[in-house]
Amino acid sequence: MSESSTKDVRIADLAQLGGEQVRLRGWLYNSRGKGKMLFLLLRDGSGICQCIVRSDLVSEPCFENAKRLTQESSVLITGTVQLDDRAPGGAELVADSVEVHQIAEPFPIGKKEHGPGFLMDHRHLWLRSKKQMALLRVRHRVLKSFREFLDDQGFFCVDSPIFTPNACEGTSTLFQTEYFEDTAYLTQSGQLYAEASAMALGKVYCFGPTFRAEKSKTRRHLTEFWMLEPEMAWADLTDVCDLAEGMIRYTIRQLLEHAQADLADLERDPATLEAWDCEWPRLPYDDAATMLLEWQKEGKYESEFKPGDDLGAPDETVLGEHFGCPVMVTHWPKEVKAFYMKRDPDDESKVLGVDIIAPTAGEIVGGAVREEDHDVLLGRIHDHDLPEEAFQWYLDLRKFGSVPHGGFGIGLERTVSWLAGVEHVRECIPFPRTLQRIYP
Ligand code: 4AD
Ligand code: MG
Repeated sequence: MSESSTKDVRIADLAQLGGEQVRLRGWLYNSRGKGKMLFLLLRDGSGICQCIVRSDLVSEPCFENAKRLTQESSVLITGTVQLDDRAPGGAELVADSVEVHQIAEPFPIGKKEHGPGFLMDHRHLWLRSKKQMALLRVRHRVLKSFREFLDDQGFFCVDSPIFTPNACEGTSTLFQTEYFEDTAYLTQSGQLYAEASAMALGKVYCFGPTFRAEKSKTRRHLTEFWMLEPEMAWADLTDVCDLAEGMIRYTIRQLLEHAQADLADLERDPATLEAWDCEWPRLPYDDAATMLLEWQKEGKYESEFKPGDDLGAPDETVLGEHFGCPVMVTHWPKEVKAFYMKRDPDDESKVLGVDIIAPTAGEIVGGAVREEDHDVLLGRIHDHDLPEEAFQWYLDLRKFGSVPHGGFGIGLERTVSWLAGVEHVRECIPFPRTLQRIYP
């Protein structure tokens, strides 16, 4: 839509357009006025800009238009860009015309406090709040950084299917669906298919929605979340750890460089992020277990954890607090991990897996070296009571040029909640699906 000869621009670009006549198109975020001067805060998705409307500079109908605007009314404002260091984004617009597209009905979300239930019911409108817009942009930047990092290292993006005939992460959390005359499951992870792709292209990643029918009601669980999963041929556990750490630290640096305004809207101190761009400790599970037991004895925290158990939320929290940065827990007891993880040749009771535990957020990454021996893998499939027929293709990968390989999965929402300092993952996805929610 460009009826006028004036250039349509986005708010984020205004700082480069000082003195120029431009048109902004957006929604009214807020307004205040005194007499012959109105200050309209306009948002267009790229930022928020103060537009100054003076009755002596615009026509009378324009000034009347500006006065009737309600919150979220859609509006087109033409004017001159005025650079000002004190203005958010470094620029304001001095209006010479205000054109109303639609006057919005009273907007249900105002400045007063709303409860999370109300906000979630109005998620389609809540997305327009300052913090939610910042989170959506941070989410975009995190994903862009993941992909940039991998693309620059020669990885290929190869998508895995969403309808699958079998489980990947265990059968207890599968969503089942009709598939013509048959049954299919919504994928829990693209990993098994990424392994096949890695045997074709060497270094790959998949990114897509994944589904877990967990009856968990915690602030860290969604039933539908987005996961990025790199997979590398010829990789050992150190390679897997190096890749995950490198990719996430790159992402932190990208946020610090490109998302300053969003971090400010989220009241996130950049120094917190800077501190995490350090070398991350790598800790075998047994050492982590010893520390946790010690802390329980000292009364530092309470937990039912005992050696051999998976880590629970309190255990992850206390580990994160202790190190003050992400910690990589490796060499897990085989009983608590998935069937495909390779046994540790130095200790048959362990698998070559890694979880990355981030301060306050808990587990953000799960990864491993994969079992590459056909017969051992078949035994693991039987141990886990998985249907052998459904895994024939996966077993084939161990018959035709099997190689050591591994990778990891990183949950996008968990990562965003950690980096943005947002308590609940439900705010880190546009339309969250949880145990209790599938609307809007
Ligand atoms: O540890 P998980 O279950 O690992 C896998 O799915 C492997 N197949 C990945 C791989 O090696 N390619 O899940 C990986 C990550 C978790 O660390 C977490 O960040 C996220 O996915 N995640 C969830 N995020 C939100 N809600 C849930 N219910 C999640 N479950 C896992
Ligand atoms: Mg895991």
